[in-house]
Amino acid sequence: MNMEPLSLGKVAEQPLCATYTLIDSPDRRLVLRPLNPRDVQGLTIFLEGLSQETRGFHSFSSYDEKCARDLCDSINVYDKLRLVLELTSKEYQEIIGVFMFGFDIVKGDIERYRGYGIELINDTVCRLSPCITDEYQGQGYGSLAMPHMLDIAERFGQKSIILLGGVLARNFRAIRFYEKNGFQNMGVWINPDNQECLDMIRNI
Ligand SMILES: CC(C)(COP(=O)(O)OP(=O)(O)OC[C@H]1O[C@@H](n2cnc3c(N)ncnc32)[C@H](O)[C@@H]1OP(=O)(O)O)[C@@H](O)C(=O)NCCC(=O)NCCS
Repeated sequence: MNMEPLSLGKVAEQPLCATYTLIDSPDRRLVLRPLNPRDVQGLTIFLEGLSQETRGFHSFSSYDEKCARDLCDSINVYDKLRLVLELTSKEYQEIIGVFMFGFDIVKGDIERYRGYGIELINDTVCRLSPCITDEYQGQGYGSLAMPHMLDIAERFGQKSIILLGGVLARNFRAIRFYEKNGFQNMGVWINPDNQECLDMIRNI
């Protein structure tokens, strides 16, 4: 693994420093790379294709070109890092996943985790929010990307990762995904939409 330290500015300037090839076979290539300003069209197709169920598990501000454009325009503007999973075959190239790190810890997270006996310290804990398009969920792509997400978090100087907004208690696939990738369930809470959520954390 590459252990060169990273910052948002560095990733924006030199995206290759946070680019990983996950599959490289004659018929398909899967790459995890930072979102770039030229991704508007690919990201629009990704967002438009998400089912209602997936939108219920992972929300974007909208599911159209406006959201894609906003995300592409906000690279290195806020303390967020977005990476895309891009699948290329002979016939097509498509974004099949978007993984976001938030390097901001909010008051609600700090208070809930304090209740579990864990003191979240800014600049050492980041928040993760992954989303894979429906067609490719449950096929191991998220787990293929996770070691590299951990690598990136570590290179950003992070010691642990929590889930942005927790994970809905009825999102069984995601809970299984987090568990098998080393996340621990810390507790249950009710989110502002009155839905039961789990807080999960993974130390790096
Ligand atoms: C959560 C998510 C990122 C995981 O990525 P993924 O590529 O689907 O995950 P993986 O295939 O690596 O792992 C999923 C695991 O759940 C299992 N699984 C699939 N469907 C399941 C279900 N309905 N109930 C329980 N487990 C399920 C899979 O078999 C696999 O476990 P296994 O390897 O032990 O067999 C992806 O499913 C996703 O984007 N879902 C929609 C958005 C979302 O929920 N985001 C998370 C918000 S907190």
